[in-house]
Amino acid sequence: MNELRWSKVDEFLIDTLVEQDEALLAALAANSEANLPAIDVSPNQGKLLHIYARMMGAKRVLEIGTLGGYSTIWLARALPEDGKVITLEYEPRHAEIAAKNIRRAGLESRVTILVGPALESLPKLHSSAPFDLIFIDADKKNNPAYLEWALKYSRKGTVIVGDNVVRDGRITDEEDRDEHIAGLREFLQRQGEEQRLTATAIQTVGAKGWDGFSVAIVD
Ligand code: SAH
Ligand code: DHB
Ligand code: MG
Repeated sequence: MNELRWSKVDEFLIDTLVEQDEALLAALAANSEANLPAIDVSPNQGKLLHIYARMMGAKRVLEIGTLGGYSTIWLARALPEDGKVITLEYEPRHAEIAAKNIRRAGLESRVTILVGPALESLPKLHSSAPFDLIFIDADKKNNPAYLEWALKYSRKGTVIVGDNVVRDGRITDEEDRDEHIAGLREFLQRQGEEQRLTATAIQTVGAKGWDGFSVAIVD
């Protein structure tokens, strides 16, 4: 019942506030056609990422976890002509579909997709750093390591956003031995302890269930 109402409200918010043009809709359709998991950010969250990027006048964005490039398109559209999103994706097939979606959106000059395990791509990004905004949305077990890289590639004022930090409340379940849940818990704990970060996290409900995202700014 609750989930139904959350979805209904999401529908209303998206219909009312979040216009998705042809390229965004085509990206979701192509992802679904290719049987990619429907774990892209929701349209309202995609737009929130877009607004964050514009709020800070971001020019350089790092994304960890591309999937079909839906969040990438929202982020890339927030950047000036000479802005750049570097997005990291493990699965060549996901990257291929993302590249098509990004090209269809006319954003290929603003986006670079690096294929491979993010932990292998990250050490190669020194010359592209510092990033203004970093969106962490891949395999959650590696989130603590991604946070370390994010800090390395930050400047004062860089914003680090983490997706899926609540996972139906599983992060507070002591019995839960899942490595991704453990990674998320450590990711949040590290942000709380880290002197260089001012961090918070918000629970969310909606069409994608009960979850949350974290937001931190580098001091
Ligand atoms: N940000 C996307 C959703 C990403 S889903 C959006 O909102 O549209 C998570 C993605 O991370 C998947 O495509 C998955 O293949 C990728 N992934 C998983 N493990 C990874 C790794 N070690 N390195 C890079 N990408 C990884
Ligand atoms: C999963 C991953 C995501 O990034 C997401 O937004 C939702 C679910 C997953 O791996 O289950
Ligand atoms: Mg996610």
